[in-house]
Amino acid sequence: MSEAETKRRTRRLSDSPADRRTAAALLRAGELVAIPTETVYGLAANALDERAVERIFSAKGRPQDNPLIVHIASQEDWAPLVRSIPAEAACLAEACWPGPLTMILRRSALVPERVSAGLNTVAVRLPAHPTARALIQESGCPLAAPSANRSGSPSPTDANRVLEDMDGRIAAVVDGGPCQVGVESTVLDLTGVEAGGRPRLLRPGGVTAARLESLIGSVEIDPAVTGRLREGERAASPGMKYKHYAPAAHVILVRGTAEGYIAFVNKQAGPQDAALCFEEDCDSLRTAFITYGRRDDPESQAHGLFDALRRLDEQRVRTAYAACPSVEGVGLAVYNRLLRAAGFETVDVQ
Ligand code: TXA
Ligand code: MG
Repeated sequence: MSEAETKRRTRRLSDSPADRRTAAALLRAGELVAIPTETVYGLAANALDERAVERIFSAKGRPQDNPLIVHIASQEDWAPLVRSIPAEAACLAEACWPGPLTMILRRSALVPERVSAGLNTVAVRLPAHPTARALIQESGCPLAAPSANRSGSPSPTDANRVLEDMDGRIAAVVDGGPCQVGVESTVLDLTGVEAGGRPRLLRPGGVTAARLESLIGSVEIDPAVTGRLREGERAASPGMKYKHYAPAAHVILVRGTAEGYIAFVNKQAGPQDAALCFEEDCDSLRTAFITYGRRDDPESQAHGLFDALRRLDEQRVRTAYAACPSVEGVGLAVYNRLLRAAGFETVDVQ
């Protein structure tokens, strides 16, 4: 990106029809526009325009080998992007789209190689957010869109958070208010099913593993979902191998009971440290704290997590002791993101 381009201001657009037309025109012209989705804000470009796609990588500082998700506005837009749609994929599309599910299938020749970072597959998602769908429809092209953060930072869940990372790097952000889900979509690899393989969950998200299994039977959970890749091991989803969602603060994930967590933090935390805790914990903590939802409510945790991670840095927290979520339902997605924010550093307490 040239010096002149980086100094340019980013326009803040509303989701009014007139502003949507402006955003769609920018997208058609090969510009980058951040858009709201029900999960997190996406950094969108025309998926069929290689140069526009290239700009996504430079604006985000994204590693060249990390592929992008292609967003469509209706199910009919799917077939041209992939080689075939297996029965399991059609069933999931029927039941879960529009919604926070991304499916990986073999890529058709229409999709530029660059979108998939050279892989012969493509990730496709039909988002539920009405503004996202209207923008895809009006721009007349599928939109490649990773989360609208600088690579490695927590994903943005409102327009101000997008501008913190992207002001001056993209043409516009469409402000559609806060995102409902708060963590990124579930990513499911279905490339092996036609040859008899099981679908594989690469990233947990708003559509739970239990829901997928109730629809298509057994799903394999990729080991990278809850574990660290070993030296030399290949990531099925390249995005899973990078340090991710990481604030500047040192995050430690504390596993154990509520009482054990509170006792540990009260003993351990120094004056520059904070608890990254559940709302119920606040009254018992003698330290600074930032909350991310309620203890038995994984949806509220998903909704609050990324904003809480960004607030750690605003408040210049040195070490954050994070209360560990349960891995039930959407909790698995929250756990997966926190584990990465912590660089896999965990402590077990009673
Ligand atoms: O909810 C979401 O999915 C958001 C919104 C904007 O739609 N997008 C998002 O994109 O989270 P991104 O780029 O931040 O994450 C995409 C993940 C990465 O881990 C990437 O490696 C993986 O999906 N991915 C994309 N295409 C893939 C492919 N062909 N094969 C394997 N993994 C793929
Ligand atoms: Mg991302």
